Order: sequence, then C-alpha cells, then structure tokens
Amino acid sequence: MSLKPVNVGLLGLGTVGIGTLKVLSRNAEEITRRAGREIHVTHATARNLSKPRDFDLSGISLETDPMAVVSQPSIKVVVELIGGVEQARRLVLAAIDNEKHVVTANKALLALHGTEIFEAAQKKGVVVAFEAAVAGGIPVIKAIREGLAGNRIEWLAGIINGTSNYILTQMQEAGRDFADVLKEAQSLGYAEADPSFDIEGVDAAHKLTILASIAFGIPLDYSKLSVEGVSQLNVRDIAYARELGYRIKHLGIARRREEGMELRVQPALLKEGELLAGVNGVMNAVMVKGDAAGPTAYYGAGAGSEATASAVVADLVDVVRTLTTDPHNRVPHLAFQPHAIDPLPVLKPAQYRSAYYLCLQAQDKPGVLAQIAKVLAEEDISIEAIRQKEPKAGAAEVDVVILTGKVDEGRMLQAQRALESLGSVNKGITRLRVEHFEQ
Ligand code: HSE
Repeated sequence: MSLKPVNVGLLGLGTVGIGTLKVLSRNAEEITRRAGREIHVTHATARNLSKPRDFDLSGISLETDPMAVVSQPSIKVVVELIGGVEQARRLVLAAIDNEKHVVTANKALLALHGTEIFEAAQKKGVVVAFEAAVAGGIPVIKAIREGLAGNRIEWLAGIINGTSNYILTQMQEAGRDFADVLKEAQSLGYAEADPSFDIEGVDAAHKLTILASIAFGIPLDYSKLSVEGVSQLNVRDIAYARELGYRIKHLGIARRREEGMELRVQPALLKEGELLAGVNGVMNAVMVKGDAAGPTAYYGAGAGSEATASAVVADLVDVVRTLTTDPHNRVPHLAFQPHAIDPLPVLKPAQYRSAYYLCLQAQDKPGVLAQIAKVLAEEDISIEAIRQKEPKAGAAEVDVVILTGKVDEGRMLQAQRALESLGSVNKGITRLRVEHFEQ
C-alpha cells in the first residue's frame, strides 16, 4: 500500500530555500524511494514574493505571512529557513504547538533557545531536525548522534565557519589584507547577515554549542563558551607561523578533561600536516575523537545553496520516515535521552591548557632576550622555539617569536603581564594557542 504524500511548508525562499526546492524536485524519485512516500512542498513564504527566483514556483501556494503556513492544517512538516532569532523562535514554537514537525538550519536559534524548543517538541511528540544548522552539507550531526552512539566522546574540533576559513586561507596563501578579503567573502554569499557573527566567532560558537551538546550530553548553553574571532589577526603573525611550519586556523574546540569541559572558539596554530591544517577556502571539517572509534573526520562544504539543502532534505527524509513511529522511541533530539542531559563543569579560560605562540616587539639591545627567557622561566613556561627577526633598517625594535610548551592560560597571562612591564618589550603582545589533535 503506498502512503499519501507528505505536505511541507517552507519558510524562506532565500539561497537555501531555493536550493531545497531544486534538490527535492531534481531527486524526487530517489528521495521517494528512500522516504517511502513523496514529499511535496505545498506552501512557501517569503517577505518579497515578486523578487525573481531561479525556480519555477507555480504549483506552490505562496504567502508573505509565515504564521499562515505554520497553522495550515494540511501541512505536516515546517522547514524554517528564514534565519534570525526572535521571529524564527515564535514560528517554530507555533509549528510545534500545532503538532507539526520542524526542520531548521537555524544555529543561532538552537544555540540560544534550543532547550525551550526541544522541550516543547518532546511534549508534543514532534521532531525538530537540524542537520543543516552545523557545517552545511556535512552530515556531522547524524554521525555524532547516531554513528558514534557507542562512544564516550573525548574531544571534538572543527573548522565550522567557512567565511573565517576563507579569509585566513586568502591571507595565508596570497598575503592579502583582512578587510579586502572580508569583502570578497561576503560577495560569495557565505557570510552571515551580520558579518561580525563570522569574524568575531559568534557563528562558530552557535555551532559549537550544538555539537558539544550532542557529543557530551550537556545542555545547550551558549553562555558557557569563550569566543574569539579572526578579526584581530594580521598577515605578520600568519607569515611567522608559516615560517615555523604552522597554519593559523579558526577552530571550535570542545574537550572533556578530568577537571571539566573546555568549550572554546578561537584562532590557533596547527602544525602543517595536521588534518585540519589542510582544510582551506570555504570548506568546513570536524574531527571527533571517540574512545572506541578513535579520531574520525568529516569534511565538506559548510554552506551554499544545494550543500545546505542536502542536509535539509536528509532531515525531511528522516522526519517522513518517523511519521509512523512511536514518538517515545525516536532518536533523541540531542542524542542523549532528555532526562539524561547533565551539565558538566565548564572550565574558566584561565584553566585552559595549551602551548602558545607569542610575538613581541623587543628593543634591539644586549640582554633583552635573556630578560624575556627569565620571565618565562619564572612562570615555569618552557620555550620550544624562539626566533628573533632581523631588525628593519633604522628600527630600534625587533620582532621576537616564541613557541612555548603547554601551560595554563592563567599562568601565561601572568607571564605576559610581566613581559609587558619589562620596559624593553612592547605592550599588546600577540598571543595565540598552538593546538595538536591526534591523527
Ligand atoms: N556564515 C556561515 C559560514 C554560513 O561562513 O560558515 C554557514 O553556516
């Protein structure tokens, strides 16, 4: 007996919305073979319906009011692709209240209001699927939530903002300036509506909040992360790191340590040859270390019309397959059973432990290097490598680049303050973490 088609309401006809319609239409036959029934987008909404779009929308009932679609009785699944937080939250909660399943690509919404949304969904017995919210076309949510369900996850680390990765790659490969590359990244259509979300690490932090929750069974809590973006990086540090055999990458890291969780988003040096060091341009990659599987890696397009649509459609297929299943026996939204989600202690930045890259401008006179080494020795920080650059003609200062051994951030900050008060070293030393992930 063949089942009736499932009707879907699509909120948002932007890049991903149109990509979703294209993929659903082009691969309709394959998708039906997988889902077991046809998936029809019967209603769609956009703020401006007269805007030209690269898809024939005849046959879809178009509205400007998304609430009308969310309360449309014939619709079983609402796909939320409007982005932003407040309106999306109201619409998703209304859809759930109307007992509709939801597919969303909205990482900010889930990072900030996921707890409320998943609780509401649980009560109503509906699914909220969000593969497209993290790393676009890479099925990393499914991999962590289902594929690695037998593991105790030890850490995960990812390049999860394509815009920052594009900027860093261009600065690294072509020596181009930050502002110049940012403009180009925006024109590629990857950047967030507010580009500060990309360059200040906010977008990556939204995604890390979600990844950490499903990997470690901890509540979604954006406020627990320490977040730094790429906006302060300069070509000089990128070049020095490269001379030492490192690449600077913008990473989201969630690591379980005995004392608590490290949850941080920041630029860091990675040794050339490390898997994540070779992820360039707008590509994303996530590594996950499970105690049984060991390190695993997931690579692909982190954004873009059809790449993100691939995740949206996979979620639609999943939702359609679950329509006939017992709501109490579905894969839990956040991988762990809701009653088993437990907050783990989260470490303060001062407790994070890593090796460091330092770049200081020191006076070019005898004894200064010895003073620097003494300050680091006093804080029990070992120097793994040190390079003094040749002074530029007529300059009274030289750049000194240091790689340290592993140290708690609190201790490193103390050393930095002591170095900056030496008088022979500039204020505002550049300090970046050096990371290493087992291959
Ligand atoms: N602005 C995001 C990025 C889009 O650059 O990765 C995908 O979430």
